[in-house]
Amino acid sequence: MSLLAINGGAPVRETAYPKWPVYGDKEREALNRVLESGVWGTLGNEVKEFNKRFAEYQGAKYGVAVANGTVSLEIILRALEIGPGDEVIVPPYTFNATVSSVLMAGATPVFADIEADTFNIDPAGIEKHITEYTKAIMPVHIGGRPCDMDAILAVAAKHRLFVIEDAAQACAAQWKGAKAGSIGDAGSFSFQASKNLTAGEGGFITTNDEALYDRCFSIHHCGRDMKNGLWYDHPHLGTNARMTEWQAAILNVQMERLDSQLETRMDNAAYLTRRLKEIPFVATLREDERITRNAYHLYIFRYFADKNRGVTREKFLEALKAEGIPCAPGYVRLYRQGMLRSPLAKRILRPGTSYDNLLLENTEKACCEEGVWLFQYMLLGTHKDMDDIADAIIKIGENTDELPG
Ligand SMILES: Cc1ncc(COP(=O)(O)O)c(C=O)c1O
Repeated sequence: MSLLAINGGAPVRETAYPKWPVYGDKEREALNRVLESGVWGTLGNEVKEFNKRFAEYQGAKYGVAVANGTVSLEIILRALEIGPGDEVIVPPYTFNATVSSVLMAGATPVFADIEADTFNIDPAGIEKHITEYTKAIMPVHIGGRPCDMDAILAVAAKHRLFVIEDAAQACAAQWKGAKAGSIGDAGSFSFQASKNLTAGEGGFITTNDEALYDRCFSIHHCGRDMKNGLWYDHPHLGTNARMTEWQAAILNVQMERLDSQLETRMDNAAYLTRRLKEIPFVATLREDERITRNAYHLYIFRYFADKNRGVTREKFLEALKAEGIPCAPGYVRLYRQGMLRSPLAKRILRPGTSYDNLLLENTEKACCEEGVWLFQYMLLGTHKDMDDIADAIIKIGENTDELPG
């Protein structure tokens, strides 16, 4: 008789993990407030409040709420005057926007490999990609785990490069007590539906540089100069990337839930890490005392088929899902994406740029063999929820004879 749920056995878990997003009467009241105010669009009180609140929360002097975490990256790049002919160093293990934003700004993305045991950009591998055209490094705090910002800032300072933190997944994360997005020249956040702070869509730019803030604000607001200009004056080349009052109203309320949700995620993640350490064919990501807060947008661990009788990661994930545990293999290699090979991309990229033969070892392993994702909402429940994850993995390991090797 089969024991694994994928083969008809009883699953480890039949109940759902906590639902996401979490909301209540306060969100309803906030939406009604906006409805009745009659100010739904441009820069009303909710957006003003959120700009101040979120920038302060992330430890940055200035903040601009925008439509999403993709345009926020594009705006920062343009505000730093990064464009045609310039290169930006990015990791390939990230959401498409980190890379597409560079192309949308007219610049060329240059891929640097990730660390095998953190899945974040490897600072030691950045320098070899720096050329006379390099203008910025764009580290991504994957899953809410801060990158090694000390090492990245050191390389950037040595070569006089900007550091743009893609903190889309790292709201509230901290590196040595400093909040993500306040460490480099600018930070970019996303409030898309899956994120730890969400309004369905939304984004944010943080910076401590007043002049950069002014330029970002102007670009997101059709190139207007809000200090001295008239409404129909457009001294800068901008776009409309403004956040609506609806989004900001929801975010102002969601912020009240953020810290307690974070505490729960961190507690559950620590417990799950202890449990996963018992299992020989998986590895948790490297611990680093300098990470004073991991936001755990994702809980990522590594899977080793060779230590589990050759059962592929895909088969393992299918079996884990059947046991009632939501999970995913995560990102694909961005340097293999069609967007980099489109006719328009070819006109944008620096002459001679080709990603066809690129093969970055740790990215290949993370994307194709080892990476396993669990999602932030799964960490909002109890230790029993974490036990189910570990028990399901152990059960699969004990019954690999039921799976094709
Ligand atoms: C690392 C990273 N960068 C950028 C983005 C883009 O954010 P948005 O979906 O709000 O445009 C995301 C969102 O998924 C992300 O995870």
